[in-house]
Amino acid sequence: MDEAIGRVVEMIVASRRAIALTGAGVSTESGIPDFRGPKGLWKRFDPSIGTIDFFREHPDEFWRFQLERAKEMLRAQPNSAHHALAELEALGKIKAVITQNVDGLHFRAGSRNVIEIHGSVRVARCTACGRSTPIEDVLIMAERGLFPPKCRDCGHILKSGTVLFNEPIPVEELEKAYREVESCDLMIIVGTSLQVYPAAHLPVMAKQGGAKLVIINMESTPFDNIADVALRAKAGDTLAAVLEGVKRKLVAVD
Ligand code: OAD
Repeated sequence: MDEAIGRVVEMIVASRRAIALTGAGVSTESGIPDFRGPKGLWKRFDPSIGTIDFFREHPDEFWRFQLERAKEMLRAQPNSAHHALAELEALGKIKAVITQNVDGLHFRAGSRNVIEIHGSVRVARCTACGRSTPIEDVLIMAERGLFPPKCRDCGHILKSGTVLFNEPIPVEELEKAYREVESCDLMIIVGTSLQVYPAAHLPVMAKQGGAKLVIINMESTPFDNIADVALRAKAGDTLAAVLEGVKRKLVAVD
């Protein structure tokens, strides 16, 4: 393990444009469950609850589920994995974090260039006029019995700002992600099962463009075989150790 961490440190120090790709496993140590891990959400709920069709057909049930998740995410604090990625960015060693997470914990840890390809839980949007409403306001509406939440301007139903299954990824975010992937020379993939597209295609794109790949995940992924280093490990401790190693090397270089 130490040797593998040492290799990751060397790769980050040698890189010119390293980026990270993260998934739900980066936030489990903050108390937010993932989807497909041993205690994953899709073991307790039918994944159809996360589809756009379910939202359209059962808005009450969808919003009850969504607001419980939103409350959990608002309560959660960034963990050492989020902090390590933010510090690596501040050191100039990571240029962007592309995340499938909607919890905003990368921003709260201090990462700046975060691309949220599955949207964010922080705002809801009107399905008719597009007006955005902060999730805190939606929670207050629900407490007052205004449920499912409706737009204050036009009265149409609000949809959460997260991307649902069978919904397209926002084009702008996806294009930003592609630009980062096309120009990266190292992709550090953390806490994702790499089973959902288009995110799961990004490591392949990076590899085809000549970048090195590091995968840090508790379980194996379908792309371990194309990774330069695949670590079956916890995100928090591993990234904290990687950060310490990078800092030591950078001091030694100075
Ligand atoms: P998954 O739940 O599919 O994968 C999370 C991975 O993280 C699993 O392989 C876990 O073993 C691993 N893991 C859990 N805790 C970890 C830890 N502390 N350290 C390291 N690894 C850990 O989550 P995603 O890949 O993010 O989409 O799922 C992708 C998308 O599917 C989500 O964005 C969501 C979901 O359905 C939508 O809702 C559109």
